Amino acid sequence: MKPSIPVIAIDGPSASGKGTVAQAVAKALGFHFLDSGSLYRLVALAALNSGSPWSDEKALAELASKLDVKFRDGLIILNNQDVTESIRSEACGEGASRVGAVPGVRDALLQRQRAFRQPPGLVADGRDMGTVVFADAPLKIYLTAGVETRAERRHKQLKQKGIAATLPLLLRDLQERDLRDMSRAAAPLKPSPDAHLLDTTAMSAEAATEQVLTWYRGLREK
Ligand code: C5P
Repeated sequence: MKPSIPVIAIDGPSASGKGTVAQAVAKALGFHFLDSGSLYRLVALAALNSGSPWSDEKALAELASKLDVKFRDGLIILNNQDVTESIRSEACGEGASRVGAVPGVRDALLQRQRAFRQPPGLVADGRDMGTVVFADAPLKIYLTAGVETRAERRHKQLKQKGIAATLPLLLRDLQERDLRDMSRAAAPLKPSPDAHLLDTTAMSAEAATEQVLTWYRGLREK
């Protein structure tokens, strides 16, 4: 732990827009950015590639502890292969939610995530940033939006990438993933008691970013 280096922890359910907001906040402050979901997606991809079933917790924890990953110039390299785009697939998102329920996987990824805490500061995006990984973060946000709005946002994103998806299926997948993330025993998705709640159902990403920056500036003035 490096308590003197500030962390802004942003947690919330899938497709709530927290990635967009977290990146914009990091850019505005010149802070580092951790997309912790990408680590779970990488473990899922490694499991799919090696044929390890989701039920084999020991094999999944082993994959997580041996993950050969490099974050370089905005690219994500796994075993010397560029997987920046492939980990964004719905299959990796679904797999991430399965491997994320395995305590051994979470333990194996803990130090890797904490190593992102470097000067001048870090914006960390995930499900347990404020509750577990950076429990001492001076600013915690729980960012959410109604499930229909989230499904529509994900639909628009996929369409822009030329990926076919239907709204009812996306809605069902999001609901299933939220339920799994919120009900698991290991680090379930829930707001930290000291988190600011931010509902972006009727709010643009720019307005949400501004709100987080206002909270952060308010903290520094105290
Ligand atoms: O944020 P993203 O959609 O990329 O995360 C994919 C999945 O990884 C989530 O549904 C969740 O199950 C898992 N995850 C997690 N803890 C985190 C970040 C992501 O369990 N800190």
